Amino acid sequence: MKATLCESLFGNIFTFVIKCIKMRLKDNIAIVTGGARGIGKAIAELFAGEGATVYIWDLLDIGSETAKELSSKGYQVEFNKVSVTDRTQIEAASQAIFDKHGKIDILINNAGILRDKSLFKMTDDEWDASIDVNLKGTFLCTRAVAAYMRQNKYGRIVSAASTTGLRGNFGQANYAAAKGGIMSMSKTFAIELGKHGITSNVIAPGYTQTHMTDTIPKEIQQMALMQIPVGFIADPIDIAQGYLFLASPEARFVSGITLPIDGGFTR
Ligand SMILES: NC(=O)c1ccc[n+]([C@@H]2O[C@H](COP(=O)([O-])OP(=O)(O)OC[C@H]3O[C@@H](n4cnc5c(N)ncnc54)[C@H](O)[C@@H]3O)[C@@H](O)[C@H]2O)c1
Repeated sequence: MKATLCESLFGNIFTFVIKCIKMRLKDNIAIVTGGARGIGKAIAELFAGEGATVYIWDLLDIGSETAKELSSKGYQVEFNKVSVTDRTQIEAASQAIFDKHGKIDILINNAGILRDKSLFKMTDDEWDASIDVNLKGTFLCTRAVAAYMRQNKYGRIVSAASTTGLRGNFGQANYAAAKGGIMSMSKTFAIELGKHGITSNVIAPGYTQTHMTDTIPKEIQQMALMQIPVGFIADPIDIAQGYLFLASPEARFVSGITLPIDGGFTR
């Protein structure tokens, strides 16, 4: 009986040690913008489970609850109240992380918003809001964080586009322009930053069940589902798995690409 208990204890310790050794982001310092909920939260949890220390940057106070929830699972997760449209906040938060850890390995530009309207109904404010958060936010965060990555000659930048950036979509001229811009901007980052050991890639998620898509009318959700060959809507973790690959050291020869994760929608 004693021997069995000892064997099982030894087995558990052995499994734990193997898991720690195999962690894909061990000792990495990662920033996930828009990580308070949805896809960003799934990325934060997956990365932290792979050994990264994760900083969630979000303008929602629930980011603090998210960080507490993930920390209670034994993960290293912190929340910084940062808007990706605020250069001063971004620069202060990046500096604080670099001062504490001496490096920043991963930036996930995930924060995003929808301000959908068809062409003749879309206001200037709706256009500007989408471009400011989705496109300029990605630029501001990348410019600030890549400066620190360059110092250590290592970095993984992965930004969120959308299938709308690849194919366009009714009522999303602002979002399509922003997400299309992210793809071409990311290729430019890849060209400029490659010599510093930094890769830059994009994930283009398809329809994913989050707060963002909950706001879309049910009949439009049903029509979208009918166009997805695999026949279901993604869970945030389905998208997060792609981020993990592109953010990992193993993806060192992948840069400048957009990876659609959309159940076959953009075939
Ligand atoms: N859900 C989908 O079907 C889908 C499809 C394609 C692309 N995307 C993209 O994936 C990303 C995540 O989307 P989601 O579905 O999880 O959305 P979500 O609305 O659930 O989460 C977005 C997060 O971004 C944060 N955010 C918004 N503006 C911000 C700002 N100025 N500064 C900091 N944080 C800010 C929000 O507070 C929120 O926590 C977005 O870029 C979105 O465009 C989502």
